[in-house]
Amino acid sequence: MNDTFLKACRGEKTDYTPVWIMRQAGRYLPEYQKVRSKVDFLTLCKTPELAAEVTLQPVDILGVDAAILFSDILIPVEAIGMKLEFSESKGPILYDPIRDSVGISRLRTLDPQEDVPFVMDAVKLLKQSLKVPLIGFSGAPFTLATYMIEGGSSRNYVNTKRMMYKEPEMFHRLMDKITDCVISYLNAQIDAGVDAVQIFDSWAGILSPADFDEFALKYVNKIISALNPALPRIYFAFNCGAMLSHVKTSGADVLGLDWRIDISDAITTLGSNAIVQGNLDPCTLFGTKEIVAKRAADVVKKGRAAKGHIFNLGHGILPETPVDNAKALVETVHEVSAGGK
Ligand code: CP3
Repeated sequence: MNDTFLKACRGEKTDYTPVWIMRQAGRYLPEYQKVRSKVDFLTLCKTPELAAEVTLQPVDILGVDAAILFSDILIPVEAIGMKLEFSESKGPILYDPIRDSVGISRLRTLDPQEDVPFVMDAVKLLKQSLKVPLIGFSGAPFTLATYMIEGGSSRNYVNTKRMMYKEPEMFHRLMDKITDCVISYLNAQIDAGVDAVQIFDSWAGILSPADFDEFALKYVNKIISALNPALPRIYFAFNCGAMLSHVKTSGADVLGLDWRIDISDAITTLGSNAIVQGNLDPCTLFGTKEIVAKRAADVVKKGRAAKGHIFNLGHGILPETPVDNAKALVETVHEVSAGGK
């Protein structure tokens, strides 16, 4: 197996900078669109053979150094009792959003084997053929809570913050339940064979640093300490460059960065012992090949100051992205970093 990604996660010497791309299995790939034209998104997530097929596509097409399980962060939320739908125009919709104690008590405890067997089945299928490590994942409790309370995506997160500030005990009770769910979900993926896990905290950046500590980070700490430390644990707190000194205390082995912070500045804040992942603006891929190569080389070069660097975009690849530019990105990262560090 190509273990460059795992070596970089552990801060070991590598022959080149490994690269994978968030949302690498997705709508920008015609091969994904073809599978997706036959089934809806949730069916795709819940059919192990299809989920495995689209997980493998970017590994073959782009030559990335890791695969990420095809699924969605809202799958376990549905499994503990909320009705979920993906609308083409509005994105995810969760019916009967949680606004009170009754809503919280209706949530079940996750039994992964019983409730989401297709996730572990997809992992097992993938482990039979993959030549690169497989990353499992979960949403972080705060990010999952925003979806559960808002009922979908949101602009100002008023319902979430109202509960935080008006009924903090209730909010913490919800977070406790979600945290238990995430721990058993990730441990089930680990038992099934994933090689690393990533926790996506996509909306933590809407919080002030003090609120981040109180309402988000402590639950991430709890999750990280409940996971086997032999496997790399990646924490990606999106839009949190202004509170990296807080993010640093998550306990994760690898910290994901978005593009709003210069990777050199991030490494200065985190220290040269840090292992980082990121952080090219996904929209760079709409530029010329020359710009893509130049910007990618810059991130690779600056990433050398960290103990380990895994190249990625600063957020998911966008549906309109030209596939050739994604291929060129992977090639450039491998070329300019060859010789290792
Ligand atoms: O990275 C990968 O390739 C693995 C698959 C993956 C998906 N979603 C597939 C997906 C992962 C890791 C996710 C995580 C996820 N899902 C996050 C965290 C990462 C981030 O983007 O911040 C979030 C916030 C979600 C929730 C979600 N899922 C939204 C808001 C949407 C709608 C927006 C959109 O891009 O359509 C989704 C749908 C979704 N998840 C798609 C894919 C490929 C598109 C579904 C389709 O085929 O129509």
